Amino acid sequence: MIAVLLGPPGAGKGTQGELLAARLGVPKVATGDVLRAAVRDGTEQGLAAKAFMDRGDLVPDAVILGIMKEVLASPDAAKGAILDGVVRTVPQAEGLTMMLAELGRKVDKFLLFDVAENELVMRLGGRTVCEKCQTPYRGLEPGTDCEKCGGTLVRRKDDEPESIRNRLRVYQAQTEPVIEWAKEKKMEVVKIDATGAVEEITDRAMKALGE
Ligand code: AP5
Repeated sequence: MIAVLLGPPGAGKGTQGELLAARLGVPKVATGDVLRAAVRDGTEQGLAAKAFMDRGDLVPDAVILGIMKEVLASPDAAKGAILDGVVRTVPQAEGLTMMLAELGRKVDKFLLFDVAENELVMRLGGRTVCEKCQTPYRGLEPGTDCEKCGGTLVRRKDDEPESIRNRLRVYQAQTEPVIEWAKEKKMEVVKIDATGAVEEITDRAMKALGE
């Protein structure tokens, strides 16, 4: 099963991606997490990506296509994968489908997480994430220990109000066209109501995946 999670910043892609991957027994891959780890480790890729990310702009397609290639070639992904935020532009969607076709595979489903804008802004304003394992939390202050790995919770730089506004604009301008593109290609895009209890949303997503 290869599922691509789509949806605006704060829609819960990271939260649900983790749960879906655990239920399906496949890895979750999030380009945001890969890039933040590269920034933290000070790699060349991280240095190139940092300014884009802090402003809430997209990192260039060439960087993302390179990450996709590495991920799809990894043996971990042989059974499938949950791809969280991996596709944010039409050229990225085209690149992913081409790489998968070369491997004799395809995207089985796009899941589109739907949340009203005022709720997104509220969620992102209140989010902390573990700087080590990147698990997102709500209602916990920076400096708290991560319940999962013991790392320290921090606020993301792109969760400042100005960056949040920019990320929402970027989503509308560059990522929403992917939805139309997928529909035109007769690929399955399932919209999920992503408000309410986390577990219920996971159940809705599993049902949408036919599991
Ligand atoms: P990325 O890290 O992917 O950020 P994003 O897409 O903006 O998404 P978020 O992580 O902000 O939100 P989410 O939907 O995962 O929600 P979460 O589960 O955390 O990307 C960051 C940056 O990297 C991009 O801006 C770009 O620069 C770059 N990048 C990454 N991929 C790229 C690509 N393919 N191309 C180009 N550039 C790329 O939940 C949010 C909050 O809500 C949390 O606090 C959570 O606890 C809470 N929450 C979750 N579910 C619920 C619920 N049901 N009810 C209430 N609260 C909830």
